[in-house]
Amino acid sequence: MRSADFAERLTQTAKTVDGVIMDLFGDKALPGETLRPTRVTESMRYAALAGGKRLRPFLVVETAALFGKEGEGVLRAAAAIECVHCYSLVHDDLPAMDNDDLRRGQPTTHRKYDEATAILAGDALLTYAFDILADEPTHPDPAVRVALVKTLARASGLGGMVGGQLLDLEAEGRFGDGKPLPLTDKEILRLQSMKTGALLMAGVEMGATLGGASRDERETLQRYGRALGQAFQIADDLLDEEADAATVGKATGKDAAMGKGTLVRLWGKDAARKRLGDLVHEAEGALSGFGDKAAVLREAARFVANRDK
Ligand code: IPE
Ligand code: IPE
Ligand code: MG
Ligand code: MG
Ligand code: MG
Repeated sequence: MRSADFAERLTQTAKTVDGVIMDLFGDKALPGETLRPTRVTESMRYAALAGGKRLRPFLVVETAALFGKEGEGVLRAAAAIECVHCYSLVHDDLPAMDNDDLRRGQPTTHRKYDEATAILAGDALLTYAFDILADEPTHPDPAVRVALVKTLARASGLGGMVGGQLLDLEAEGRFGDGKPLPLTDKEILRLQSMKTGALLMAGVEMGATLGGASRDERETLQRYGRALGQAFQIADDLLDEEADAATVGKATGKDAAMGKGTLVRLWGKDAARKRLGDLVHEAEGALSGFGDKAAVLREAARFVANRDK
């Protein structure tokens, strides 16, 4: 698949998912809710609808498509994982975490509103993700809905993204004497597989669940997702080192300043770039059994590594 065709497809999916998110974030309270205060819905929309590549939704949609599945349920699952991702960004940017002012080329949610609103917008995005998955239009079979909830919860929570964020801050020396901890490459890989890899992998797994993948197919896709997730964070860390804020839409040059534990810092840029290439090969190779059907997912691995934002 040509990278221009891939870019077009990614943009189209992003637009479709944005439409679904917009519909879900309406002002009208759902049964069981009392009232949706304007400031919460507005700040949620601000956090979720201001750009973003929509890569995790894309992985849900394209993995489900491998099995011929598409439609409302797939898009709702795609919207749900994006809600969790956007919440993670809102909280990641808070003064108590990475303290950033720019996200997706706009002021971060706490800069646009205030910290309390940003915390609550993040909380609402997180809880709403599971509401969306648990609700009937996502899949007629409650067992499938529960499986989606479980995959997303495990990837996002204490042993996944949240745990990874804790390790990330700990590596900066936040909870000790302020001196960065000297992490080994194994420790960095684990930290990154949790803070970033887990959610990307969950996108693939949720697509596999919706597609009714066999156990073998699931294992194959997990290998793909794992390699893609690692590649993703190395690319993010290279961008932090090399790109400018205007292009990536967020501050750069901060990882070194903060003493973040990254492979780019431990190994240097060239070695990190070499690993990135190996991971793309690994991700592509994992999909060989799917043949041409997996061309989009293969291109996704190349995109993740070569992106400029
Ligand atoms: C950025 O994720 C945060 C990390 C997990 C490193 P993305 O690069 O996917 O951000 P958006 O969604 O496109 O803005
Ligand atoms: C954050 O990693 C991963 C999340 C769980 C949000 P980073 O802190 O490196 O992400 P950016 O660079 O701020 O997007
Ligand atoms: Mg961070
Ligand atoms: Mg950050
Ligand atoms: Mg980063």
